[in-house]
Amino acid sequence: MAVTVTILCENTVGRAIPAIGEHGFACLVETPQARILLDSGQGLGIERNAQVLDKDLGGLTAAVLSHGHYDHAGGFDQVLRHTGPLDLFAHPAIFAERYSRTAHSLRFIGIPQRRELLETLGARFRFTPEFCEIAPQVFVTGRVERTTDFESGDPNLVVRTATGDFVPDPFDDDMALVVRSERGLIVVLGCAHAGMINTLRHIRRQLPGETIHAVLGGTHLGPAGPEQFRRTLEELEVFAIEKIGVSHCTGQTRAAQVRERLGQRFFFASVGAVLEV
Ligand SMILES: [Fe+2]
Ligand SMILES: [Fe+2]
Repeated sequence: MAVTVTILCENTVGRAIPAIGEHGFACLVETPQARILLDSGQGLGIERNAQVLDKDLGGLTAAVLSHGHYDHAGGFDQVLRHTGPLDLFAHPAIFAERYSRTAHSLRFIGIPQRRELLETLGARFRFTPEFCEIAPQVFVTGRVERTTDFESGDPNLVVRTATGDFVPDPFDDDMALVVRSERGLIVVLGCAHAGMINTLRHIRRQLPGETIHAVLGGTHLGPAGPEQFRRTLEELEVFAIEKIGVSHCTGQTRAAQVRERLGQRFFFASVGAVLEV
């Protein structure tokens, strides 16, 4: 099965095209039977970049939200105006009240639009708490089981509970998209808040014996400490992945370090990057 993956929104534009870079992520996955949008950026570049890259947002067959952060969910109102009624697959915890909190600031970073607005624009939420197939040969991971001892999460990302307390975000909703191609699985991460290695192990348990050909998307290795970064690179080797394209919350410094380690297997998954399998 031929698969094309195109980065529509990302922090940087990787080619000389008149597209928009933004803090966020969106990616289009095209197979012979499906055209699925994973995430939508924060709403600055999705329409323009789709047009520049000659991708018709109106022709989507479904969408997936990797987790409930504004920089992945914020463009869906615009997307729905192109598509009309559309299945939107996500974990039910996407609507948690999420914040980024430091010693000096508290910033709301959850989904900017109300669920009711998205639904009246055509979103049909399909909740996928577990691993499942959403189109032929296309899967979502559902909640990712935590099995590593080095992917500790980001303490600045919190949720407000019913009692008004702020606690570390458990990111039950964080999930990845998986496509089965002739050369192996293609994994697209949103932010990998659940941990990149936790996510890959989870996929391997769900689809035992299958090789992972490519991994791309946000790794959240930018904010990760040196020990987590080192162990992640070490563990990545176990999967013998042929292509790794990092995006978004990896950051440029970490991306350069991953490039140094992986050589020709590495690519920058910036706006306009295309993976064809
Ligand atoms: Fe993000
Ligand atoms: Fe995120």
